[in-house]
Amino acid sequence: MITAQYFIANWKMNVPALPVWVRDVSQAMLGREAQVVLCPPFTRLSAAQMVLTDTGMALGAQDCHAQENGAYTGDVSALMLRQVGCTHVILGHSERRAQHHETDAMVRAKVACALAHGLTPILCIGESLEVRESGDAEKMVTQQLLACMPDMDDDDEIIIAYEPIWAIGTGKTPGCDEIEAMHAAIKKQLHKRAPLVYGGSVNIGNAADILALPSVDGVLVGGASLDAAQFATIINAGK
Ligand code: 13P
Repeated sequence: MITAQYFIANWKMNVPALPVWVRDVSQAMLGREAQVVLCPPFTRLSAAQMVLTDTGMALGAQDCHAQENGAYTGDVSALMLRQVGCTHVILGHSERRAQHHETDAMVRAKVACALAHGLTPILCIGESLEVRESGDAEKMVTQQLLACMPDMDDDDEIIIAYEPIWAIGTGKTPGCDEIEAMHAAIKKQLHKRAPLVYGGSVNIGNAADILALPSVDGVLVGGASLDAAQFATIINAGK
C-alpha cells in the first residue's frame, strides 16, 4: 500500500537559493508523511545532495543515458547519478521525447539501466492535445506505458507520472474525472503496485483537488516547484 504522497519537484531552471528552498520545504514536511523528491538540473545535483542530508528529501535527476559506461560525451549515466547521491531519475519526459527525439524503446532502455543501478525511475507518459481530442488518449497512453516498461524484478521500484503534454506549462489541467479515468486505465496495465503521480500545471490553486483524488499518489511539479512557498503550499494540500 502507498501511504505517503509524493511531491516531486522538476526544476527546469536554476533556483539560486537552494538552502532556503530546502529549509522552507522541510518546514512544510514537518508532521506530514510527504515524500519529497528534488530533481534539479545536473549542475545542481552535487550541491543539492549536500543540503538534503538529514532532511528526509530524496534527490533525483532529469534524465540518464541508457548505457552504464561508454564514450557518450555530454551524457550522464545512471552510475554517475548514483555516485552523486541520486535515488530517483525522471525518464521519458515529453520535453525530452520532443526535443531530443527519445523513442519509447530508448526510454525503456533508460528505465532498465536506471533500475539496474538501484535508481527509482519516474517514468513520464502522456498524450498530446491532438490525441486527447481524437478520443484515443487512454489507448495511446497505455500503449506508451507498456512500450516503456522493461521486465522488472520483484524488488524494483518505479513511479509512473501521467503528464498530459497539453497541460505542461500551459495552466490547463484535465478534469478530475479525466485524471481518474486515465489513472484507472494505467493501473489496469501495471502488474505490480507502483505509485502513480499526476503532472502538468499543478499549482497552489488546483493541488488540493488533484491530491484528493483516490487514484493520485502524488504530483510532479514544474513551474510551481521553483518557488519554495508555493511548493510548500502544494505539500500542505496533500491528503
Ligand atoms: P509544469 O508544472 O510547469 O506544468 O510542468 C510540469 C512538468 O513538466 C513536470 O515534469
